[in-house]
Amino acid sequence: MLVGTASRCPVTVTKWLRSMNFRMSRRRRIFEGKAKVLFEGPEPGTLVQYFKDDASAPNNQKKGIVTGKGVLNNRISEYLMTKLNDIGVPTHFMRRLNMREQLIRQLDIIPIQIVVRNVAAGSFAKRLGIPEGTALPRSIVEFYYKQADLNNPMVSEEHITAFGWANPYELDEIMSHTLRVNDYMSGLFLGIGLRLVDFKMEFGRIWDHDEMRIVLADEMTPDNCRLWDIKTNEKMDKDRFVEDLGKVEEAYQEVARRLGILPEGLNPTGDNTPTNNITSINER
Ligand SMILES: Nc1ncnc2c1ncn2[C@@H]1O[C@H](COP(=O)(O)OP(=O)(O)OP(=O)(O)O)[C@@H](O)[C@H]1O
Ligand SMILES: [Mg+2]
Repeated sequence: MLVGTASRCPVTVTKWLRSMNFRMSRRRRIFEGKAKVLFEGPEPGTLVQYFKDDASAPNNQKKGIVTGKGVLNNRISEYLMTKLNDIGVPTHFMRRLNMREQLIRQLDIIPIQIVVRNVAAGSFAKRLGIPEGTALPRSIVEFYYKQADLNNPMVSEEHITAFGWANPYELDEIMSHTLRVNDYMSGLFLGIGLRLVDFKMEFGRIWDHDEMRIVLADEMTPDNCRLWDIKTNEKMDKDRFVEDLGKVEEAYQEVARRLGILPEGLNPTGDNTPTNNITSINER
């Protein structure tokens, strides 16, 4: 279609390409983390979240690439955040832009990671000497201070309010969203034969005129959720990478497939390099 337009009106197309070039050079990289890149969004108060294929073990003990992970995580997070929005948990997700990017609301991130545990696993199992796989008597919520150079230490509500990372009202909101998310997602995953063992969340603040709201941020994917097959107990999440279990790509694909969102014609060798190309933030 562009070719047809170009042949009819080359001057207009040249102008359009110039304006695109201008916008391309203006696309600013705000932050690059281990699994995602945040770019300035098209409107104030928005960001573009780009999902990379990069994978890492806690505290960067191991790094690698899981081909196609970014594409799948973009879809999985879109799906879960949309569902959570539908049940009344406010999330930063606005819309998916393309294979690896989604438009999100820019938030003032609260520097706390909220971890919900339903089954003993990972650092929790080690720390408390509870065999991995033990069902917990009830869901347990933990807080970690988001400070990578300190290895994200575990903290209590006392630390959070005393140091002003969040106030008691904000913590109440976070807790109420957290319990809802856990109940909803546990049921959703159970319905597709997966146990939601534990997961990590981040929240942020957004101001609507004078009113502040607590909003779910970041991602909801097998990178931050432990998911085990109900029948076989097979791990279907990032632990396959961390623990060298193999078939990592396949596990992410299987989660997407069971959710009914495996992208058709997925190109797992898709480019992993975020570019400043404005076309990539246009809806496809
Ligand atoms: N809506 C949002 N507004 C602003 N920042 C956000 C939003 N959602 C997520 N973020 C931030 O974007 C970053 C996502 O990148 P990534 O998850 O790759 O980082 P990371 O290497 O895991 O580091 P971190 O420990 O900060 O999460 C995180 O720092 C997260 O706090
Ligand atoms: Mg992160």
